[in-house]
Amino acid sequence: MDFNSKLPNVKTTIFTIMSKLAKEHHAINLSQGFPDFDTDKELIELVTKAMKKGYNQYAPMQGVFALREQISEKFNNLYQSTYRPDTEITITSGATQAIFTIISAFIKKDDEVLIFKPAYDCYEPAIDLQEGKPIYVQLEGPEFRIDWQKVKQLITDKTKMIIINSPHNPSGTIWSNEDMVALENLVKDTNIIVLSDEVYEHIIFDGKQHQSLCLFPHLKERSFIVASFGKTFHNTGWKVGYCVAPKALMHEFRKAHQFNVFCVNHPMQIAFAEYLKNENNYLSLNNFYQEKRDLFLNGLQNSHFKFTPSQGTYFQLLDYSAITDESDVDFAKRLAIDHQIAAIPISVFNKDGLDQKMLRFCFAKKEETLQKALKVLCSI
Ligand SMILES: Cc1ncc(COP(=O)(O)O)c(C=O)c1O
Repeated sequence: MDFNSKLPNVKTTIFTIMSKLAKEHHAINLSQGFPDFDTDKELIELVTKAMKKGYNQYAPMQGVFALREQISEKFNNLYQSTYRPDTEITITSGATQAIFTIISAFIKKDDEVLIFKPAYDCYEPAIDLQEGKPIYVQLEGPEFRIDWQKVKQLITDKTKMIIINSPHNPSGTIWSNEDMVALENLVKDTNIIVLSDEVYEHIIFDGKQHQSLCLFPHLKERSFIVASFGKTFHNTGWKVGYCVAPKALMHEFRKAHQFNVFCVNHPMQIAFAEYLKNENNYLSLNNFYQEKRDLFLNGLQNSHFKFTPSQGTYFQLLDYSAITDESDVDFAKRLAIDHQIAAIPISVFNKDGLDQKMLRFCFAKKEETLQKALKVLCSI
């Protein structure tokens, strides 16, 4: 049957390919971005308690109010920024659904959407489905700095949205205050909407501060911030996240959201509302993951891989150009098959598959997993 695919370029994702290879070859899987340790028992107990108390039917469309209140308080405490729980915060089925719904709600045919490459892979298919047009800004490693003059040249009267992501998957870089100010100057006095993917907000290293978009008034007034409890609380399988935006934007978002999922897992929301009351549950993450990053990088000192330490996220890029000139996809496959270690080639996140001879490794793993991986990586 010829149904004329709306997404002819979407193929099996590299995550599925690498995870399958990892399984077949009993490889240590540092490819996909999820922890190999469990979520906090206290949180599991809170979910169980909520289920036993009967929170098993539809939640409110916007999300459980107590949870939205806690999120509002978090923005106030961390960034002195106000988002009203009734009109400016919505609970979503992970960050992915928030992103998909934002794009669906605002992007029309031929609207241009600026994306910085390498980029997480869920942005473009959502734009394609709306017949929007992704416009790419390709950044180059190891620093992935932004040339704002070049970005300015890409803005047209058709630019409807700019998608940003800091801390950044896959590069592990973070945006500076100067980057945020440059973006603010660029969009001020335009109708451009900014989608800020901040799912790694609480995973940032070396005492650096997360430059949340809400800290910049001219950005905040035109933007969505997207977050993920899965990334923050080690339960990516629960798929709960949220987005915040000024009232008028959120009103438009909810029109699409209610016919997309309508609402999100009820008992999990009740549990997160309680769990968020202890800010240590998210503020301790920086140190927790920095220790893992440091363990991983110290162990690689005598390897043939080159690296710039990740500044945030739980990903580390390793440059393998001193080992082989194979393409990153070939080398990643060979690593999984011959050395039993799976990683992600970053060309899949780049414009036109640009190969920068780098692989992305996820270090959200137990110490023993990282030690095993280091042994292999140092032998290559
Ligand atoms: C940058 C980025 N945004 C969004 C997501 C999706 O988050 P969620 O699992 O909450 O849908 C991920 C997951 O890997 C990510 O890395």
